Amino acid sequence: MNAAAVVPAAGRGERLGPGAPKALRELGGVPLLVHAVRALARSRAVTLVVVVAPADGVARVRALLDSHGAGGDEGPEVLVVPGGDTRQESVRLGLAALPPEVDVVLVHDAARPLVPVDVVDAVARAVDEGASAVVPAVPLADTVKQVGPAAAPGLPEPVLGTPDRSTLRAVQTPQGFRRDLLLSVHEKALREAVDATDDAGLVERYGGQVVLVPGHEEAFKVTRPLDLVLAEAVLARRRANDEF
Ligand code: CTP
Ligand code: MG
Repeated sequence: MNAAAVVPAAGRGERLGPGAPKALRELGGVPLLVHAVRALARSRAVTLVVVVAPADGVARVRALLDSHGAGGDEGPEVLVVPGGDTRQESVRLGLAALPPEVDVVLVHDAARPLVPVDVVDAVARAVDEGASAVVPAVPLADTVKQVGPAAAPGLPEPVLGTPDRSTLRAVQTPQGFRRDLLLSVHEKALREAVDATDDAGLVERYGGQVVLVPGHEEAFKVTRPLDLVLAEAVLARRRANDEF
């Protein structure tokens, strides 16, 4: 297996509020993206990391990775390429930078800085053992309601139903794929203007089988301000434990 990681990091982080692009916001004094790249580099499966930076931020991201020792001097090589207007486009641009010998791709959000290396390894292993699309997932804590549109703006949304929670999972990254499969579903989606919120969703859309492996609560995505508070606490606990 020759596995590369593609790290979409070109989003603005609007839900996190005003400030630098989300991937460059700091957690324990280190940008989220640097945490994410280090987490991937810890896996022996990963031989190359392609970081997809904001289109106007490639040089800044390159310098930032280098200054934190996450630019590829040690461990896997690290490339930085410009991203697009959507996550899907950014992933596609990252895939386009892969050298021919790569046969497995792990797509990992820069916004999931604390993913444990065991999750990265488990996803890579499942692809190596024959699955063509693998997603780490966790059970839902909340009950989920399906809703319809409100009758008029400002009126409450009607509930249409309650899916059985035991049949639902919240999915995380890295999501792992055979390279040829991921490339072909991204190309089809581009031609047909199909959007999905995750890469596995494109595989499902075109009839491919996606399987799950256990995710981890610390692989959560930093989306809103409270997530950053939680991430700081998790990181502080890790650093305290490392001292003993
Ligand atoms: N992403 C990307 N290119 C985009 C949009 C998103 O590479 N045009 C990346 C983000 O940088 C992030 C990952 O996709 O690492 C997951 O997206 P999300 O959590 O939605 O991040 P943002 O789009 O930055 O946040 P928001 O939706 O709140 O603006
Ligand atoms: Mg987004």
